[in-house]
Amino acid sequence: MKVRIKVPATSANIGPGFDVAGLALTLYNTFVFELSEGGLEITGCPEQFCNEDNMTYQAFKTAAAYCGLDFKGVKIACSGDVPHTRGLGSSSTCIVAGIVAAYAFMNRSEEREEILDLATKIEGHPDNVAPAIFGGLTVSVMYGDKVKTLNIPVKHDYRFVTLIPPFTLSTELSRKVLPPTISRQDAIANVSHLALSVASLINGYDEGLKLGFKDRLHQPYRGHLITGYHEIMDTLDKDEKVLGSYLSGAGPSLMAVISANDIMGVVRIKEELGSLLDGWEVVKLELDQKGYTCDYE
Ligand code: HSE
Repeated sequence: MKVRIKVPATSANIGPGFDVAGLALTLYNTFVFELSEGGLEITGCPEQFCNEDNMTYQAFKTAAAYCGLDFKGVKIACSGDVPHTRGLGSSSTCIVAGIVAAYAFMNRSEEREEILDLATKIEGHPDNVAPAIFGGLTVSVMYGDKVKTLNIPVKHDYRFVTLIPPFTLSTELSRKVLPPTISRQDAIANVSHLALSVASLINGYDEGLKLGFKDRLHQPYRGHLITGYHEIMDTLDKDEKVLGSYLSGAGPSLMAVISANDIMGVVRIKEELGSLLDGWEVVKLELDQKGYTCDYE
């Protein structure tokens, strides 16, 4: 028996919701697992990741111990479109797939809350794994070793224009540049902006997004790590049809939210940004509403 798991890319933080908010996008990685009589076989990813340190395998092994799956060996075939180290949750797709696979072999693949707790423990924060598990827009609160996640109904028809640079940025480096403390004014600003952005997404209040996505907790400290960041964000800010923009996760990808009926949005954004986007990929994505899917073959 094989288990096939498809996990969506995710865009964490949505500006002010650092380590709290995230959304799932219609871009996917797929992982097929098969138990074997011994050893580990990984295919479909670069050679240097085809070993015991592989993140998907490590998550599978940890989850197997948690859910009581006894296995001798496993084959993992990976494929998909989520780019690595670009702030689009590729690590979360690996972690979630590994855990769901172990649970699936125990017929427990729909135990999403337990899977979330474990995935958060492995990842360290819930903002990417939560939307990868539940889909849509999620906000999460950590309490003790548990996570409370709310899957928020986003009523409006938004499109997420994802600007993916040709270079990578490690999450580790992107977290290292953050100050250990922030001022009360900055904390208040972020709480208010997150409240405004989430309420605006729920109500389809487009006018609240540009201001709502503003952040003082991480984006100002990360901008210099991304070539063209300030020019691109300033240009997106001035585009009246761009409803809001933010740094996706730890970066370096940037996100511009437009309305579904702004059909020329991608062409216009590419024109406005011109050579700033040399080598960048621009993809128009939608919200994934389901989170991971798991099938047996
Ligand atoms: N909230 C995380 C960060 C997402 O911004 O560092 C990336 O893992």
